[in-house]
Amino acid sequence: MKLSQRITHLTEGGSDGWDVFYRARRMIDEGHAVTELTIGEHDIRTDASILEAMDLSARQGHTGYAMMPGTDLLRDTVAARLQTRTGVPTTRNNVLITPGGQSALFAAHVAVCDPGDVGLFIDPYYATYPGTIRGAGATARPIQTSADDAFQPRAQRIDAAADGAVSLLINTPNNPTGVVYSRTTLEGVAQVCQACDLWLISDEVYDTQVWDGTHISPRTLPGMTERTLIVGSMSKSHAMTGSRCGWVVGPEEVIAHLINLATHTTYGVPGFIQDAASFALNAGNLLEEEIAAPFRRRRALAMEVLSTQNTVGLVPAQGAMYLMLDIRATGLDGEGFANALLDTHSIAAMPGESFGTAARGHIRVAMTIDDDRFAAALTTICTYAAVLADRRAAE
Ligand SMILES: Cc1ncc(COP(=O)(O)O)c(C=O)c1O
Repeated sequence: MKLSQRITHLTEGGSDGWDVFYRARRMIDEGHAVTELTIGEHDIRTDASILEAMDLSARQGHTGYAMMPGTDLLRDTVAARLQTRTGVPTTRNNVLITPGGQSALFAAHVAVCDPGDVGLFIDPYYATYPGTIRGAGATARPIQTSADDAFQPRAQRIDAAADGAVSLLINTPNNPTGVVYSRTTLEGVAQVCQACDLWLISDEVYDTQVWDGTHISPRTLPGMTERTLIVGSMSKSHAMTGSRCGWVVGPEEVIAHLINLATHTTYGVPGFIQDAASFALNAGNLLEEEIAAPFRRRRALAMEVLSTQNTVGLVPAQGAMYLMLDIRATGLDGEGFANALLDTHSIAAMPGESFGTAARGHIRVAMTIDDDRFAAALTTICTYAAVLADRRAAE
């Protein structure tokens, strides 16, 4: 039987640099001790207070169908949070609650892309981006960034790729690079979106994980509120990856259509999950800071380890739970280095090539294991890279 092109062409097939990830998985399944630096998920679980709120809500009966756009309470809470943090007037009518940020990314693209349109995204990119754009029926077109420019997207390149495009997807703080986009970058992005009449889909799921600089939401920039769709999530800010709770924030008209989409796709998010999310968001900044603290600490540890050597370069580690390490001095690409690292030292890191072509010659390290093992693994990576670089110099 024939299947739709949309589903069979969702991903482009091939390993895309994920071989090392699956190899590490197999090694772990076979009982090998592997230091896992590939996973973008906290090494703590959802806070007990949030689970208690979830439990209470479920026991009070919030286990039936929930309201399609999200509960009034959670929509109001998300709106108030955004308004407080950005100054942009926001009400519940600007908010759709979704089953996680991934679902919000998909909904946002469905809202603005028609079949045949082009959806732009920035390379390096979070793994699901091209498939999400294709899933919405559009053609996914990457915009290159450069390691030497700290992977900041430049307006000129976006402008040059904008033919036929209706949307641009950006992500700050960024997965996989750990870079936070500067005001200058975002002003350039805003300018090109207005000049080329693009929707801006702004993935801000790491907005509570900023170690250096400030997170600026592009929705706050002049002329951008009406053309920006923000994607947010409880996954990273509150260690609630498994709860599947996120949102799209945007103009009322778009949200009204997206409520209709939710009615015909997800049929909403469980009420007890939404109540737990409302509780968590109203618990204040302290809880968010506590959840982000291990990454802040490990990022500082990494700066210490990396400062003692000069083989491995660090892309400015300003936010999110990842470090992007430049291993070009070894003469290997990211895939070659990551495979060799796994074989020789049983350390699993993601090759830069898993995230497109711009991060070739890099590896992404997730800061998601305990401090001591994390620092030890980084030291090993640096020592090993130095050995390879020396060997290369001697050839
Ligand atoms: C950049 C980025 N956006 C979106 C997501 C999706 O998050 P979730 O669907 O868990 O909210 C992730 C998850 O790792 C991510 O890294």
